[in-house]
Amino acid sequence: MTATKGLEGIVATTSSISSIVDGVLTYRGFDIDDLAENATFEETAYLLWFGKLPTAPELQALQRDLNKFAPIPEQLIAQMKLYPKESNTMAALRSAVSSLALYDAEAEDMSLAANEVKAVKLQAQIPTIVAALARIRKGLEPVAPKESASIAENFLYMLWGKQPDLVSVKALDTALVLHADHELNASTFAGRVTVATLSDIYSGVTSAIGALKGPLHGGANEAVMKMLEEIGSLEAVEPYVRAKLERREKIMGFGHRVYKNGDPRAKHLMKMSLELGTMKNDTTLYDMSVKIEEMITGQKGLKPNVDFYSASVYTQLGIDRELFTPIFAISRASGWTAHILEQYEDNRLIRPRAEYTGLVEQKYNPIDER
Ligand code: ACO
Repeated sequence: MTATKGLEGIVATTSSISSIVDGVLTYRGFDIDDLAENATFEETAYLLWFGKLPTAPELQALQRDLNKFAPIPEQLIAQMKLYPKESNTMAALRSAVSSLALYDAEAEDMSLAANEVKAVKLQAQIPTIVAALARIRKGLEPVAPKESASIAENFLYMLWGKQPDLVSVKALDTALVLHADHELNASTFAGRVTVATLSDIYSGVTSAIGALKGPLHGGANEAVMKMLEEIGSLEAVEPYVRAKLERREKIMGFGHRVYKNGDPRAKHLMKMSLELGTMKNDTTLYDMSVKIEEMITGQKGLKPNVDFYSASVYTQLGIDRELFTPIFAISRASGWTAHILEQYEDNRLIRPRAEYTGLVEQKYNPIDER
């Protein structure tokens, strides 16, 4: 038995949800470029869950369900108010989503119908949790979701406590489409491993959130913004990046396990970053990002991934850095739950082997002889 570090190149399952072939990402056969330009996040979530684009009545029914399920239990809000305000937002989100199961009478119902409803419920409630957490941490009361609004509009409304502008809603909606699914990424794999034991969907999504939190995965978008804040100005980019490369440190937001010639999602976020900067008459963050890209691609041959330009997009939308990875979770909840449903459909326990490299032929000796 020989281990493949990081399971690189290992094909661990079949899936009909999303694919990456020759650098092209598709959801259910639809190119991500097509979806980013034309689909809403709700249409995308429907596509991931049910394998086809919804008709108008199907989309309306989904939207009604998402709005119906968006409010979260009062007990959960009370619990979130007890979380330390300085705790990591992804840790708080992970705890809150885990707790959601406690308030769902169908949490342990393993029928397909119940799991499909729970997928929609989780998708509806995670944005409400993230917005509530953000407000509670600032000493503000959570805002209840609107009775009729898209996830992007409702999230910004709950976050800001006022009606968001159309440009911000559209930008967030496109970002949600771009992050919705990504084949067997680390968090999706974590979710599938969990439910392959026939554990419940809440456990699967909680595992996935834990995996997304890390800076080598979803946490990279916050790390990118931290870097931009540390750099501070366009002039400071060159010495900062040069020093980082000399220290052989990783630059967050660059590189990818699967894409070696560039992440197809990055160009959409790059364009959005420029558009938002131009609208605000301040393209500093965009200009700094482009300069970093020039240096990293030029010197290391590494291309930006989905996290790189999303940092300047979210900041220009007025969203705090600590919410970037939770927003990724809002979007990826659709992909996670689609994969969990697919795993249940044709389940087999996921239990690989390890190549043993430890000591051998040890003999037990009594404690007073060690
Ligand atoms: N900055 C500098 N060097 C890098 C970077 C980077 N961002 N990414 C890879 N490299 C270098 C490594 O140092 C390594 O060089 P070496 O062979 O000289 O030691 C080589 O490229 C291979 O890197 P690995 O980390 O082994 O590649 P792997 O496929 O395991 O990792 C990963 C992919 C984790 C995404 C990596 O590129 C990385 O750490 N990037 C920064 C974090 C990041 O942006 N993560 C988000 C990914 S997208 C997502 O999850 C949503």
